[in-house]
Amino acid sequence: MSRSDHTILITGGAGFIGSSLVRSCLRDTTLTVINLDKLTYAGHRESLSEVLEDPRHTLIVGDISDRELVAQTLRDHRPQAIIHLAAESHVDRSIADPPSFATTNVLGTCVLLEAVTDYWQKLPTDDRAAFRFLNVSTDEVFGTAQPGEQFTEMSLLAPNSPYAASKAAGELLARSFGKTYGLPVVTANPSNNYGPRQHPEKLIPRMILAAARGEPLPVFGDGLYERDWLHVEDCCRALLAILDQAQPEERYLVGANQCLQNLEVVATICDLVDEFLDDRSSRRELIAHVIDRPGHDRRYAVDASVLRSKTSWQPQIKFDLGLRETVGWYLNHSDWVSAVLSKEISR
Ligand SMILES: NC(=O)c1ccc[n+]([C@@H]2O[C@H](COP(=O)([O-])OP(=O)(O)OC[C@H]3O[C@@H](n4cnc5c(N)ncnc54)[C@H](O)[C@@H]3O)[C@@H](O)[C@H]2O)c1
Repeated sequence: MSRSDHTILITGGAGFIGSSLVRSCLRDTTLTVINLDKLTYAGHRESLSEVLEDPRHTLIVGDISDRELVAQTLRDHRPQAIIHLAAESHVDRSIADPPSFATTNVLGTCVLLEAVTDYWQKLPTDDRAAFRFLNVSTDEVFGTAQPGEQFTEMSLLAPNSPYAASKAAGELLARSFGKTYGLPVVTANPSNNYGPRQHPEKLIPRMILAAARGEPLPVFGDGLYERDWLHVEDCCRALLAILDQAQPEERYLVGANQCLQNLEVVATICDLVDEFLDDRSSRRELIAHVIDRPGHDRRYAVDASVLRSKTSWQPQIKFDLGLRETVGWYLNHSDWVSAVLSKEISR
C-alpha cells in the first residue's frame, strides 16, 4: 500500500533525525508533512532552513503533551499516519535529570497516543485500516549486546539508562494502545545515527568540534564501547519504507551492520580533522580517557535482516564515507553550530 500522496504528522521534526526525515519526505515523496515540535534546546528552525517555505511542510511549534493542541492539529490537517520522533534523547542528560525524560518520552507519548486514538476512532473504516502510528524507539531499549550478539525483533526489553527506560516505557504504552484500542501501531528501533545537524552534545559532533578547536577529546572509560553506526539518511529511508509496508504490531530493527569501538571512531575523526584543516597537527594526542558513564552499555549491535527482507531498503552510506562527509559538514557550518549552542546558553 503506498502512502505517497498522503499527509503525515511528524513529531520532533526540527531535531536531528526529524529534520532529515522532513527533507527526505519533501525530496523523495509527494507526502505533505505537518511537523509538530516544541523547539527545545535540541530542535531548531535552522535545521529546517531549506524547507521552511515549502508549501508541503507546516511547522507547528508545540508540545506533544498538549492534548488540545495535538487534537486541533489532527482535526485541521487530517494526517493518515504519524511518525513519532519527539523525545528527550541524550543519555547523559537522562542520568542528570530522569524526570524530564519521563515527562516527554512517557507522559508526552501517552498524551499523543490518546489524542491520536481519539482522532483515529472517528475516521472512516478504510482510513482506519490504512492508518499507521510509527513509534520511533531505539536499540538502546535492549540493553547491552553480548560479544558477537546482534539484537533482533525477538530481543527482550532490558533498558539500562533512564533514557532507554523512558523509550521502553513509550514503546510499551504504544503497544498497549494497539492491543486495547486497536490503534495500528508499528515500532522501529534504529541503532546510533550520525550525520549533519546532530546536536553537538552527541559523540561524533562533539569530538569533531573539540578536535577542530584543539581541545581535549574526552572518551568514556577504556573507549572500547561498541556502537552500530547508521547514517541519518539511511535511517530516514528505512522509516519511510517501514511506514509504507509495515502491518500493525510489527517491529523493525534498523541498522547498517557497522559496529565500531568509540576509540576507533574518535581516532578516525582526529585524522579527518587533521586532513581537512591541514595544519600539521596530530589530534589523536588530544584523546583523554575520562571516568566512565554509570550504567554504560558495552555494546549495541543490530540485525536488520527482517527489514531488508520485507522491504527493498538497504543502507547506502558506508561509515567511512559518511563520517568524512559529516566532518566536512561540521567544519563548514559554524553558523549552524553557533545558532544551536547560543540557543542553549540563552535558555
Ligand atoms: N539519534 C539517534 O542515534 C537515535 C537512534 C535511535 C532512536 N532515536 C530516536 O529518534 C528520535 C529522534 O532522535 P534525534 O536524535 O533526532 O533527537 P533530537 O534530540 O535531535 O530531537 C528531538 C526533537 O524532539 C523535539 N521535542 C522534544 N520534546 C518535545 C515535546 N514535548 N513536544 C514536541 N517536540 C519535542 C525537540 O525540540 C527536537 O526537535 C527520538 O525519539 C530518539 O529516541 C535516535
